[in-house]
Parts: sequence; structure tokens; C-alpha cells
Amino acid sequence: MLKDPSQKYRPFPPVSLPDRQWPERILSAAPRWCSVDLRDGNQALAVPMNVSQKLELFQTLVKIGFKEIEVGFPSASNTEFAFNRRLVEEGRVPEDVWLQVLVQAREDLIERTFDSLVGAKRAIIHMYNSTSPAQRRVVFGKSKEEIKAIAVHGAKLIRDRLPRLQGTEVQLEYSPESFSATEVGFAKEISEAVMEVWQPTAERKMILNLPDTVEVATPNVYADQIEWMCRNIKNREALILSLHTHNDRSTGVAATELGLLAGADRVEGTLFGNGERTGNLDLVTLALNLYMQGVSPQLELGNLNAIREVYERCTGMSVPPRQPYAGELVFSAFSGSHQDAIKKGLAEWSRGQRTHWDVPYLTIDPADIGREYREVIRVNSQSGKGGVAYLLESEFGIELPKDMQREFGPIANDAVDRLGREVSGAELKAMFWGEYVERSAPWRLESFEAESKNGMVRCHAVLLQDGQPLALAGEGNGPLAALVHGFGQCGVPRFEIANYSQHSLGSGEAAAAIAYIQLKWSGGRTLWGAGVDTNIELASVRAVLSALNRSCV
Ligand code: KIV
Ligand code: ZN
Repeated sequence: MLKDPSQKYRPFPPVSLPDRQWPERILSAAPRWCSVDLRDGNQALAVPMNVSQKLELFQTLVKIGFKEIEVGFPSASNTEFAFNRRLVEEGRVPEDVWLQVLVQAREDLIERTFDSLVGAKRAIIHMYNSTSPAQRRVVFGKSKEEIKAIAVHGAKLIRDRLPRLQGTEVQLEYSPESFSATEVGFAKEISEAVMEVWQPTAERKMILNLPDTVEVATPNVYADQIEWMCRNIKNREALILSLHTHNDRSTGVAATELGLLAGADRVEGTLFGNGERTGNLDLVTLALNLYMQGVSPQLELGNLNAIREVYERCTGMSVPPRQPYAGELVFSAFSGSHQDAIKKGLAEWSRGQRTHWDVPYLTIDPADIGREYREVIRVNSQSGKGGVAYLLESEFGIELPKDMQREFGPIANDAVDRLGREVSGAELKAMFWGEYVERSAPWRLESFEAESKNGMVRCHAVLLQDGQPLALAGEGNGPLAALVHGFGQCGVPRFEIANYSQHSLGSGEAAAAIAYIQLKWSGGRTLWGAGVDTNIELASVRAVLSALNRSCV
């Protein structure tokens, strides 16, 4: 890398717009959506979709609710042309869906594009030519005037062929490709030249699409460019102003959001942001960003996993684990403090104490998009006691007392660390059982009986101590006190019960109960134990033995 990158690169010159209005606005309605998955997305695939994959993705896009779908570049190949024809001839396009097709401003290509649309109910003919200084210089070797002439010529070719599409409702779209790298003055000039030919009106608008073909600056610069165009272009009311961003600087969504604030009406993008290089605008993220602000995106994303599955199968791409909303790990929390906060937030939400969603770390309720709470917490070596406790409770109904969480959390973390991977709830439960419930050395319970007389309880227990039977008797004001006394009688260092709680592990008469007991020794040392039995008294006795056994290691 260069020590001084300014020798090779320079900052993008911003538009002068000191009285910009967009920073003061908020997004309060969904834009008009156009999916370009089957064109921009498809052309960026190492192996483009075949016709049946395109058909399946088309149907999914329709189901989501897209009313404008760019289905391809019909003049580019026979496959693209054939796909268009199948959609039209097999009546696969719902009445309210516009088939959008892309074409360059060239006569032969425009001819073929018109052929592909014959019989369509509704069509958007999208013409583009590139306008930035680099494109003018490097690709075309043409002046601004000559570039403008290409656009005007193409616009006329399209206008003159419109009568061929009898019975088709047509909208026209023009893109000065590489708009964001074009001088705004020239972008306005060329767009107005095309408008001059197509003569849009407020009743019969045309779409002016202003692409961020390659992101060259921060999103605020794109927003300024859009606001500048909205304010300066002639006959703005005859335009549907459209955005088409790519993601080269990783700000495609941000640029689109700011572009909408700046006055745009419509957006083009793809599911999960598939597209050239770093991708197109991710429509799912934009839609759900609106949703999490309480604005209906007017798209149905309630089963995001299914949409993702179709997308991955058809395109051969995969959605990264950290992709907003859709990624595998989006509703997982690895840090203990996050897990704890989520647990509390979800509990508050389920108690119905809040009218509006406000759960820490979860921007939306995963259930709204068909994802599950179960995915929220997983345990790895970074998880704190809260995450461990949440998993045991949510999956197995094991409600560890707070203080016991503090003891078991680090034990579980060390075990997970040794494994070097995440663990499932079942594995975590096995760790808990191994640490507490299944401890049987040196003492194992054979039998326990307690009887109460005159307010005093006497107990008799038979234990196996290192495999040898040991009878133990004691008395106290309850069975546990009697057991503690009994241990004292046979020379075990004195201890007392510092904490006790229990609950059932399921429902029904035969359900097991779990008891948690914390023992405290004279030096102040404390340890927890846990015992499980269908008899609650025996569960408690087992919990005492669990703690005692743990004290011997
Ligand atoms: O990125 C782009 O500029 C395009 C145009 C054809 C709209 O895809
Ligand atoms: Zn594009």
C-alpha cells in the first residue's frame, strides 16, 4: 500500500448544496420497489440461472409482492429472450405486475427487446447509456454532446416503436448509467434530453433511474446528488425518480435510504444484495429497516428462511451468517451480557408490559420474519452465566438459582473452551448433570427415611461410602436438618445449609423435581449441589450429597 494514497487517489468532489433538506426528513412510507434479481443479479453469477431457476425465483418475487420485476436483457441472448417469451406466453405474469426489460440505446437491441414483449400486459422498457467522464473517455471516446446524442437516438427508436405493443401498457425508464460519477449538470442535461423525446406528463410519468453504478463517495454525497436532481430537473412531477445503488463501499443500503430522504420515489435492488462485484442494494435489508421503524414495507417477508432457501438454490449464492435479518447468526448472542439483556427483554415483552418492541440487541422480533427465539442464544466459551442459565431454562426448564448460576457459568465456560466450539443445550445439560446431579463419589444414597415426632424429625439413611455401606442417623427440625446432623455424627466436617430451592421439572404426577442446595462450611467456603428425584424430599437429600461429593474433589 502507498504511504501517501493521495498521490494515486483523490476525494470525490461533492455537490454544492448548502441548503440541503434531506437531513431533516424521516422515512415514513415504503418506496415503489423493483427487483432486478433476474437481470443485474443474474448477470453477476458465475453460472447464470437457467430458465427453470429464473422461473422459480420470479414466482418467489411475485409472492413477496414485487410489482415491478426486471426480468432480463432479452436482446442479450436467446436464453434471456426465451425466458421473457415463456413468461408472456404461459401467462405467468399476474395482471398487476410490470415486466421490466433492460436495453442499451442501440437499434438492433431495441428491435429484439420489443419482439420479446409482444403480448405482455404491462411492460417497463428500461434504456440506459453510460455518462460519467471515465466512461465517456475510456469506453466511448465521445464528447458529452455525442453521448447525449446516443441517448436521444435510443429514446426516439423506442418512442417510434411503441405502436407495435398494442394492448400492452408501457412505462418508459431511462438510466444515465454511472450517474453518481457523472457531473450533476450533465446528468440533468442528458435526462432532460430524453424527457424531451418521451414527453412524460404528471399523468403519464416516466421513470428516471439515477444509478450509483459504482459507489464513489459517502452516502450523503449520493443524497445530495439526488436532492440536487429533484430540485433542478425540469418537470419533476412527470418523473418517478428511481434509485439503483451498488455496494462497493458497503453503503448501498445507506445510500438508498438517504436517497429516499432526498426525494426519490422508487428503488431497484436484489434479494440479499446479489449483484455485480460487492452487489446491488439489498432489498430485504432496506424493507426490514423500514419495518423496524414501524413503516410497512408492503412486501411479505414473514418467511425469510424460505425466501433465502429459494434464493440460495436458484442463484448458487449463499447468504453470509452476519447478513442483516437473514444471516444464520443474526439472532444469536455470544456475549454473556448480551444474552442476559435479551433474556430480560424477551421476558418483559412476553409479560405484555410494553406496547412497542424494545428488546436490547434485537432490532426486530425474529418471529415476525419466521425466525425463532431458540436461535437467539447459543453458548460458547465467551458466553456468560446468563446465556448458560437461559439455555438450561428455555430448553429444559432448569431454573438455576442466581448464585448457582455464578458457580456453574465459569464451569460451563471452561468445559466449552476445552471443546473449542459452541455447545448445544443438550450438551450443556449433560455438563450440568455431570457436575452436580450424577455425582456419586464418595457418597451414594441407598435409602433415606424420615419420621416426625413431637416437632422433631429423625432420619435414617444408608449410604455407600466408597462402595462400603454406611448407616447414618440424625435429628433436627426437618429432614434436611436431621441429615446434616447425621453427617456431623460420623465425623464429616461441619457444614450448614445456606440456600435451598426446588421446582418440578415437568408436569404430571410422575414428574421429577429438582432441588438446589448450597452448603456452607465453617471457614466460609460454599458449594452448590443439585438432586433430581420424583420424590421432592429425596431430591433434596441427593442435592446435599451432590454438594458434599463436590467438596471432596
Ligand atoms: O448499475 C447500473 O448502473 C445498472 C444500470 C443498467 C441501471 O445496472
Ligand atoms: Zn446495476
